[in-house]
Amino acid sequence: MPNVITSENQLDFSLADIPSMPFPNKVLMVEPTHFSVEYVINPHMADNVGMVDKMEAQDEWELIKSTFEQIEIEPHTIEGQQGLPDMVFCANQSLPFVDEDGKKHVFMSIMHAEERKQEVPYIEQWFRQAGYEIHYLNEDKIEDFEGCGDAIWHTGKKLLWGGYGHRSSIRAYKEISETFDLSIIALELVDEAFYHLDTCFCVLNKKTVLIYPDAFNNEGLKLINSIFENVIEATEYEAKKLFACNAACPDGKNVIIQQGATDVNKNLRDAEFAVHEVNTGEFIKSGGSVFCMKQMVW
Ligand code: ARG
Repeated sequence: MPNVITSENQLDFSLADIPSMPFPNKVLMVEPTHFSVEYVINPHMADNVGMVDKMEAQDEWELIKSTFEQIEIEPHTIEGQQGLPDMVFCANQSLPFVDEDGKKHVFMSIMHAEERKQEVPYIEQWFRQAGYEIHYLNEDKIEDFEGCGDAIWHTGKKLLWGGYGHRSSIRAYKEISETFDLSIIALELVDEAFYHLDTCFCVLNKKTVLIYPDAFNNEGLKLINSIFENVIEATEYEAKKLFACNAACPDGKNVIIQQGATDVNKNLRDAEFAVHEVNTGEFIKSGGSVFCMKQMVW
Protein backbone atom coordinates (compact mmCIF):
# COMPACT_ATOMS: atom_id res chain seq x y z
CA MET A 1 0.00 0.00 0.00
CA PRO A 2 1.45 3.38 -0.94
CA ASN A 3 1.85 5.32 2.21
CA VAL A 4 3.83 8.19 3.73
CA ILE A 5 4.70 7.42 7.36
CA THR A 6 5.57 10.21 9.76
CA SER A 7 5.15 8.55 13.15
CA GLU A 8 5.90 5.22 14.75
CA ASN A 9 2.23 4.32 15.35
CA GLN A 10 1.62 4.42 11.58
CA LEU A 11 4.16 1.65 10.96
CA ASP A 12 1.92 -1.22 9.89
CA PHE A 13 4.64 -3.43 8.42
CA SER A 14 7.98 -4.94 9.30
CA LEU A 15 10.98 -4.97 7.03
CA ALA A 16 10.37 -8.63 6.15
CA ASP A 17 7.04 -7.65 4.51
CA ILE A 18 8.73 -5.24 2.09
CA PRO A 19 9.63 -6.58 -1.39
CA SER A 20 13.30 -6.66 -2.37
CA MET A 21 14.95 -4.39 -4.88
CA PRO A 22 18.16 -5.37 -6.74
CA PHE A 23 21.42 -3.72 -5.68
CA PRO A 24 22.58 -1.04 -8.13
CA ASN A 25 25.63 -2.14 -10.14
CA LYS A 26 26.63 1.17 -11.73
CA VAL A 27 27.48 4.61 -10.45
CA LEU A 28 26.88 7.90 -12.20
CA MET A 29 29.29 10.76 -11.57
CA VAL A 30 29.58 14.29 -13.00
CA GLU A 31 33.10 15.46 -13.88
CA PRO A 32 34.26 18.24 -11.53
CA THR A 33 35.76 20.51 -14.24
CA HIS A 34 33.36 23.34 -13.40
CA PHE A 35 33.02 22.65 -9.67
CA SER A 36 33.58 25.62 -7.37
CA VAL A 37 31.87 27.51 -4.55
CA GLU A 38 30.31 30.57 -6.17
CA TYR A 39 27.26 31.26 -3.99
CA VAL A 40 25.97 30.31 -0.54
CA ILE A 41 22.93 28.03 -0.33
CA ASN A 42 23.90 26.07 2.78
CA PRO A 43 25.81 27.09 5.92
CA HIS A 44 28.93 25.09 4.97
CA MET A 45 29.51 27.27 1.88
CA ALA A 46 29.52 30.53 3.83
CA ASP A 47 33.27 31.08 4.21
CA ASN A 48 34.29 29.18 1.11
CA VAL A 49 33.31 31.28 -1.89
CA GLY A 50 36.24 31.20 -4.33
CA MET A 51 38.21 28.85 -2.07
CA VAL A 52 38.15 25.60 -4.08
CA ASP A 53 41.47 24.21 -5.34
CA LYS A 54 40.36 22.78 -8.70
CA MET A 55 43.37 20.48 -9.21
CA GLU A 56 42.92 19.02 -5.75
CA ALA A 57 39.16 18.60 -6.39
CA GLN A 58 39.90 16.72 -9.61
CA ASP A 59 42.29 14.34 -7.77
CA GLU A 60 39.77 13.74 -4.97
CA TRP A 61 37.03 12.99 -7.49
CA GLU A 62 39.27 10.56 -9.46
CA LEU A 63 40.04 8.60 -6.30
CA ILE A 64 36.34 8.22 -5.48
CA LYS A 65 35.67 7.03 -9.01
CA SER A 66 38.46 4.45 -8.88
CA THR A 67 37.30 3.28 -5.44
CA PHE A 68 33.92 2.43 -6.96
CA GLU A 69 35.72 0.47 -9.68
CA GLN A 70 37.71 -1.35 -7.03
CA ILE A 71 34.49 -2.55 -5.37
CA GLU A 72 33.18 -3.63 -8.78
CA ILE A 73 30.72 -0.88 -9.43
CA GLU A 74 30.99 0.44 -12.96
CA PRO A 75 31.32 4.25 -13.24
CA HIS A 76 29.50 6.24 -15.92
CA THR A 77 30.38 9.91 -16.22
CA ILE A 78 28.65 13.04 -17.47
CA GLU A 79 30.50 16.23 -18.42
CA GLY A 80 30.06 19.15 -16.03
CA GLN A 81 28.66 22.42 -17.36
CA GLN A 82 30.11 25.90 -17.09
CA GLY A 83 28.01 28.06 -14.77
CA LEU A 84 26.66 25.04 -12.85
CA PRO A 85 29.28 24.63 -10.09
CA ASP A 86 27.12 22.26 -7.98
CA MET A 87 26.21 19.86 -10.80
CA VAL A 88 28.97 17.53 -9.56
CA PHE A 89 26.63 16.65 -6.64
CA CYS A 90 24.67 14.29 -8.84
CA ALA A 91 22.72 12.55 -6.07
CA ASN A 92 20.45 15.56 -6.04
CA GLN A 93 18.79 15.93 -9.45
CA SER A 94 17.07 12.54 -9.61
CA LEU A 95 15.60 9.55 -7.80
CA PRO A 96 16.11 6.31 -9.78
CA PHE A 97 14.15 3.13 -9.09
CA VAL A 98 13.73 -0.42 -10.49
CA ASP A 99 10.27 -1.98 -10.39
CA GLU A 100 9.35 -5.64 -9.80
CA ASP A 101 9.53 -6.38 -13.54
CA GLY A 102 13.06 -4.98 -13.71
CA LYS A 103 11.89 -1.83 -15.52
CA LYS A 104 13.93 1.29 -14.74
CA HIS A 105 12.28 4.56 -13.69
CA VAL A 106 13.48 7.93 -12.51
CA PHE A 107 11.79 10.91 -10.88
CA MET A 108 13.44 14.19 -11.82
CA SER A 109 13.99 16.73 -9.02
CA ILE A 110 12.62 20.23 -8.54
CA MET A 111 15.71 21.92 -7.15
CA HIS A 112 15.10 24.21 -4.17
CA ALA A 113 17.78 26.75 -5.10
CA GLU A 114 17.35 28.80 -8.27
CA GLU A 115 21.11 28.41 -8.87
CA ARG A 116 20.76 24.63 -9.32
CA LYS A 117 17.59 24.31 -11.42
CA GLN A 118 19.44 24.17 -14.78
CA GLU A 119 21.34 21.04 -13.73
CA VAL A 120 18.31 18.78 -13.99
CA PRO A 121 17.89 18.53 -17.81
CA TYR A 122 21.54 17.41 -18.25
CA ILE A 123 21.03 14.57 -15.80
CA GLU A 124 17.67 13.71 -17.35
CA GLN A 125 19.40 13.28 -20.72
CA TRP A 126 21.62 10.56 -19.27
CA PHE A 127 18.65 8.65 -17.85
CA ARG A 128 16.79 8.95 -21.15
CA GLN A 129 19.63 7.42 -23.19
CA ALA A 130 20.02 4.70 -20.51
CA GLY A 131 16.41 3.59 -21.12
CA TYR A 132 14.76 4.87 -17.93
CA GLU A 133 11.12 5.93 -17.91
CA ILE A 134 11.17 9.59 -16.84
CA HIS A 135 8.66 10.88 -14.26
CA TYR A 136 8.06 14.47 -13.19
CA LEU A 137 6.51 15.80 -10.01
CA ASN A 138 3.57 18.18 -10.28
CA GLU A 139 5.23 21.60 -9.99
CA ASP A 140 1.90 23.24 -9.18
CA LYS A 141 1.61 21.22 -5.99
CA ILE A 142 5.20 20.51 -5.04
CA GLU A 143 7.64 23.26 -4.27
CA ASP A 144 10.86 21.30 -4.15
CA PHE A 145 12.41 17.83 -4.10
CA GLU A 146 16.17 17.20 -4.28
CA GLY A 147 16.31 13.54 -5.32
CA CYS A 148 18.63 11.18 -3.43
CA GLY A 149 19.96 14.08 -1.36
CA ASP A 150 16.76 13.59 0.63
CA ALA A 151 15.27 10.32 -0.66
CA ILE A 152 17.36 7.32 0.35
CA TRP A 153 16.63 3.67 -0.46
CA HIS A 154 16.71 1.10 2.32
CA THR A 155 19.45 -1.33 1.20
CA GLY A 156 17.99 -4.03 -1.08
CA LYS A 157 14.38 -3.06 -0.29
CA LYS A 158 11.51 -1.28 -1.98
CA LEU A 159 11.35 1.11 0.96
CA LEU A 160 12.30 4.77 0.81
CA TRP A 161 13.42 7.12 3.60
CA GLY A 162 12.52 10.73 2.84
CA GLY A 163 13.98 13.81 4.52
CA TYR A 164 12.04 17.07 4.45
CA GLY A 165 12.18 20.57 5.88
CA HIS A 166 15.02 22.30 4.04
CA ARG A 167 15.34 21.21 0.39
CA SER A 168 12.38 18.85 -0.15
CA SER A 169 8.67 19.14 0.64
CA ILE A 170 6.88 16.29 2.35
CA ARG A 171 4.21 16.52 -0.37
CA ALA A 172 6.69 15.16 -2.92
CA TYR A 173 6.70 11.86 -1.04
CA LYS A 174 2.95 11.36 -1.44
CA GLU A 175 3.26 11.60 -5.20
CA ILE A 176 6.33 9.34 -5.32
CA SER A 177 4.75 6.71 -3.05
CA GLU A 178 1.65 6.56 -5.28
CA THR A 179 3.53 6.41 -8.59
CA PHE A 180 5.99 3.74 -7.44
CA ASP A 181 3.48 1.96 -5.17
CA LEU A 182 5.69 1.98 -2.10
CA SER A 183 5.91 3.08 1.50
CA ILE A 184 8.03 6.08 2.40
CA ILE A 185 9.16 6.87 5.93
CA ALA A 186 9.41 10.67 6.14
CA LEU A 187 11.87 12.25 8.58
CA GLU A 188 11.84 15.92 9.46
CA LEU A 189 15.28 17.59 9.42
CA VAL A 190 15.63 20.12 12.23
CA ASP A 191 19.16 21.54 11.93
CA GLU A 192 20.12 23.61 8.88
CA ALA A 193 23.71 22.33 8.92
CA PHE A 194 22.11 18.96 8.07
CA TYR A 195 20.00 20.27 5.23
CA HIS A 196 19.73 17.01 3.26
CA LEU A 197 18.90 13.60 4.71
CA ASP A 198 22.18 12.29 3.26
CA THR A 199 24.16 14.60 5.56
CA CYS A 200 22.88 12.83 8.69
CA PHE A 201 21.57 9.39 7.65
CA CYS A 202 23.44 6.64 5.79
CA VAL A 203 21.86 3.23 5.28
CA LEU A 204 24.69 0.69 5.45
CA ASN A 205 22.81 -2.60 5.09
CA LYS A 206 19.31 -3.94 5.82
CA LYS A 207 19.87 -3.81 9.58
CA THR A 208 22.35 -1.00 10.04
CA VAL A 209 22.25 2.77 9.69
CA LEU A 210 24.73 5.53 10.52
CA ILE A 211 23.09 8.75 11.78
CA TYR A 212 23.73 12.08 13.44
CA PRO A 213 20.89 12.01 16.03
CA ASP A 214 20.56 15.76 16.70
CA ALA A 215 19.54 16.38 13.09
CA PHE A 216 16.18 14.64 13.79
CA ASN A 217 13.24 15.16 16.12
CA ASN A 218 12.03 12.48 18.55
CA GLU A 219 9.48 11.04 16.16
CA GLY A 220 12.17 10.60 13.52
CA LEU A 221 14.53 8.90 15.96
CA LYS A 222 11.76 6.51 17.03
CA LEU A 223 11.08 5.58 13.39
CA ILE A 224 14.77 4.97 12.71
CA ASN A 225 15.14 2.86 15.84
CA SER A 226 12.08 0.77 15.13
CA ILE A 227 13.25 -0.29 11.65
CA PHE A 228 17.03 -0.68 12.14
CA GLU A 229 18.53 -3.21 14.56
CA ASN A 230 21.88 -1.39 14.67
CA VAL A 231 22.06 2.39 14.79
CA ILE A 232 25.59 3.81 14.72
CA GLU A 233 25.75 7.42 15.93
CA ALA A 234 28.30 9.94 14.70
CA THR A 235 29.62 12.68 16.96
CA GLU A 236 28.91 16.32 16.08
CA TYR A 237 32.50 16.87 14.96
CA GLU A 238 32.62 13.87 12.63
CA ALA A 239 29.13 14.52 11.24
CA LYS A 240 29.39 18.27 10.77
CA LYS A 241 33.05 18.81 9.92
CA LEU A 242 33.91 15.50 8.25
CA PHE A 243 30.52 14.67 6.73
CA ALA A 244 30.89 11.12 8.10
CA CYS A 245 27.20 10.35 7.49
CA ASN A 246 27.57 11.34 3.84
CA ALA A 247 29.33 8.03 3.15
CA ALA A 248 28.30 5.56 0.46
CA CYS A 249 27.68 1.86 1.05
CA PRO A 250 26.24 0.66 -2.25
CA ASP A 251 26.56 -3.09 -1.63
CA GLY A 252 25.92 -3.49 2.09
CA LYS A 253 29.62 -4.29 2.71
CA ASN A 254 31.99 -1.59 1.43
CA VAL A 255 31.77 1.92 2.87
CA ILE A 256 33.43 4.81 1.03
CA ILE A 257 33.84 7.65 3.52
CA GLN A 258 35.71 10.89 4.18
CA GLN A 259 39.03 10.12 5.87
CA GLY A 260 39.70 10.90 9.51
CA ALA A 261 36.31 10.07 11.06
CA THR A 262 38.10 7.91 13.62
CA ASP A 263 35.14 7.04 15.86
CA VAL A 264 32.69 6.27 13.06
CA ASN A 265 35.29 4.26 11.17
CA LYS A 266 36.09 2.17 14.23
CA ASN A 267 32.39 1.43 14.68
CA LEU A 268 32.13 0.49 11.00
CA ARG A 269 35.11 -1.85 11.21
CA ASP A 270 33.79 -3.41 14.43
CA ALA A 271 30.54 -4.09 12.56
CA GLU A 272 32.62 -5.81 9.82
CA PHE A 273 32.27 -3.26 7.07
CA ALA A 274 35.23 -2.73 4.72
CA VAL A 275 36.11 0.95 5.12
CA HIS A 276 37.60 2.87 2.17
CA GLU A 277 38.77 6.30 3.33
CA VAL A 278 39.00 9.05 0.71
CA ASN A 279 39.63 12.78 0.92
CA THR A 280 36.70 15.00 -0.11
CA GLY A 281 37.99 18.19 1.55
CA GLU A 282 37.35 20.42 -1.48
CA PHE A 283 33.76 19.23 -1.81
CA ILE A 284 33.06 19.59 1.92
CA LYS A 285 33.66 23.33 1.33
CA SER A 286 30.43 23.22 -0.68
CA GLY A 287 28.52 21.09 1.86
CA GLY A 288 28.90 17.67 0.28
CA SER A 289 31.00 14.51 0.41
CA VAL A 290 30.97 11.01 -1.10
CA PHE A 291 27.25 10.21 -1.00
CA CYS A 292 26.18 13.30 -2.89
CA MET A 293 28.95 13.11 -5.51
CA LYS A 294 27.40 10.02 -7.12
CA GLN A 295 24.11 8.52 -8.13
CA MET A 296 23.64 4.76 -7.85
CA VAL A 297 21.98 3.34 -10.96
CA TRP A 298 21.15 0.03 -12.64
N1 ARG B 1 26.46 23.04 -2.58
C1 ARG B 1 25.50 21.99 -2.79
C2 ARG B 1 24.13 22.43 -2.33
O1 ARG B 1 24.04 23.13 -1.35
C3 ARG B 1 25.92 20.75 -2.06
C4 ARG B 1 25.01 19.60 -2.28
C5 ARG B 1 25.46 18.38 -1.56
N2 ARG B 1 24.59 17.32 -1.79
C6 ARG B 1 24.05 16.54 -0.87
N3 ARG B 1 23.26 15.60 -1.29
N4 ARG B 1 24.21 16.73 0.40
O2 ARG B 1 23.13 22.10 -2.93
